Amino acid sequence: MTKAKRQMQEDIKLIDLVIELVDARIPLSSRNPDIDDLGKNKARLILLNKADLADEKKNKLWKACFQKQGFFVVELDARKRNSMKLIQDTILESCKEKIERDRRRGIKNRPIRAMVVGIPNVGKSTFINTFAGKAAAKTGNRPGVTKGKQWIRLNKNVELLDTPGILWPKFDDQAVGMRLAWIGSMNDSILNIDELSLDLIAYLTENYPGALAERYRIQKTGESTDVSQEKEEDAAQRNQAASDEKGLKPVEILEQIAKSRNCIRSGGEIDYSKAAVLLLDDFRSGRLGRLTMESPAIYDTNGFDS
Ligand code: G4P
Repeated sequence: MTKAKRQMQEDIKLIDLVIELVDARIPLSSRNPDIDDLGKNKARLILLNKADLADEKKNKLWKACFQKQGFFVVELDARKRNSMKLIQDTILESCKEKIERDRRRGIKNRPIRAMVVGIPNVGKSTFINTFAGKAAAKTGNRPGVTKGKQWIRLNKNVELLDTPGILWPKFDDQAVGMRLAWIGSMNDSILNIDELSLDLIAYLTENYPGALAERYRIQKTGESTDVSQEKEEDAAQRNQAASDEKGLKPVEILEQIAKSRNCIRSGGEIDYSKAAVLLLDDFRSGRLGRLTMESPAIYDTNGFDS
């Protein structure tokens, strides 16, 4: 067992509630199922973080899916304070049994103790900072910044372990690895960015037709213009572009993206890699719109259009 996992096993003994952050764009791939075993017998709250970057409709579906599995769930943008009251209320709700048990035993005002867990870069430190209302935890993923056990007292009801638990994603599944790479959860220098971008294009044209066309004005003819440079958007033209996008191979779309963003080398040769980096950057920062790359299986089998 890894040191991090052993540490988490120890920490979990001290708490009532596991607050698990997942990335709303890939709620399955950004989980490590070990946490279900580690956190059994504990109250469980899943925060669908970076919900601001994910498809609103799918956020709702994922929320329902996790709730069905017995988790409490809140959609979240961890950088904003506006969901924190809802999270506080949900924490109390999730630990209702413990509060009731304490009350029956005559124990008063024993705070709920919680710990935050999640894969690197999912937003754990951001959440702790926002939730605690001050710079209580350092942002960035440097595990073990704090040596001793420190608790952040949020109010009279809730205390948070100040060091989040790091879970490692399941890289062994290639599709999981690819989705983690899309959202920027892996070191880009070890990835084949060109292939990654072609896979992303294939996924988007299939699942979000028009998303690429809308940003880069992809056209069947091979011509392309950068929409962000145009003053007025023409809906009819956009629809036409979306349907044109359909007939093109991913590499042809990447070529058009390159042309529209002037990713051309001095000899006139297309710089696919530059276009790939640009595309991934646009995707990761939400400039292609709110997109989710995984659908709950239950909805797939029921004919949900993923
Ligand atoms: P970690 O502790 O789990 O490793 O993650 P951390 O909080 O360091 O967050 C990783 C990045 O994700 C940060 O961006 C952070 O601002 C961003 N982030 C966290 N939560 C949300 C969210 O709900 N929505 C969006 N859109 N972004 C979120 P960064 O660019 O790496 O750092 P920074 O320059 O913003 O500090």
